[in-house]
Amino acid sequence: MKRLIFALTWLLPTMAFASSGVELQQANNDITDQASLQTGAKLFVNYCMGCHSLQYARFQRIGKDLGLTDDDLKEHLMFGAEKVGETITIAMDQDDAERWFGVTPPDLSVIARARGTDWLYTYMLSFYLDPSRPMGVNNLVFKDVGMPHVLWEQQGWQKAVHKSETDAQGHSHEVIELELVNPADKEKAEQYEKDMRNLVNFLEYIGEPAKLERHSLGWKVLLFLFIFLGFSVALKKEYWRDIH
Ligand code: HEC
Repeated sequence: MKRLIFALTWLLPTMAFASSGVELQQANNDITDQASLQTGAKLFVNYCMGCHSLQYARFQRIGKDLGLTDDDLKEHLMFGAEKVGETITIAMDQDDAERWFGVTPPDLSVIARARGTDWLYTYMLSFYLDPSRPMGVNNLVFKDVGMPHVLWEQQGWQKAVHKSETDAQGHSHEVIELELVNPADKEKAEQYEKDMRNLVNFLEYIGEPAKLERHSLGWKVLLFLFIFLGFSVALKKEYWRDIH
């Protein structure tokens, strides 16, 4: 029940965004793609962990699931944490965070389950310049967001362009589209989209590491049932032979 209420409180603002008319882009990520998860993990520790924790995740478990040794973990993913058994916390003081950003950056352990992967992917692609905001940026799916666009160098800046569109009924309404300020950043922005797909993939995996296990268990169960079917058929034949 508690879980349900939790899910609902997250879902409500999400639905509001969806109804605000912004179409979500599809993440199309694949949690069985280990290389993608590794890239996503690297992006997370390099660009997100300064502000966001993953308090339910342990490096060791990530290592095991992503096919990394303890040495790989220490070399590529761990900067602050001492032992591989530790959870992913951050050093930033909550009060400082609030003073800097107006809000405390939330823990992202279950963000993919709370918001959905398409929302997350769209969020990461939807920062745009807005001089009226304290961080100089706003976000199409998270109005007046307190997070700075930490990956602007990877994506290039985007600006909002207001356009008017006419729907099938002939009503015109205003839509906001994002465009690169500098068209020469196009290639960079395409690479950024791939990176964000990997990052979202990692966050989906972190939200429910057991999903990976379930996936491989599923195949084993199917295989078992298939072999069992063979035995059953053989057994049935055996029984009926005597009766006929
Ligand atoms: C400099 C600090 C900082 C960094 C680095 C940072 N964030 Fe944030 N992030 C914030 C703050 C502050 C908020 C809260 C925004 C708000 O509520 O207005 C936030 C909010 C978010 C949210 C929305 C959470 C919600 O309420 O639904 C997501 C998703 C998110 N960050 C993902 C990321 C990812 C992924 C990275 C790494 C690429 C990252 N952030 C890096 C400060 C940061």
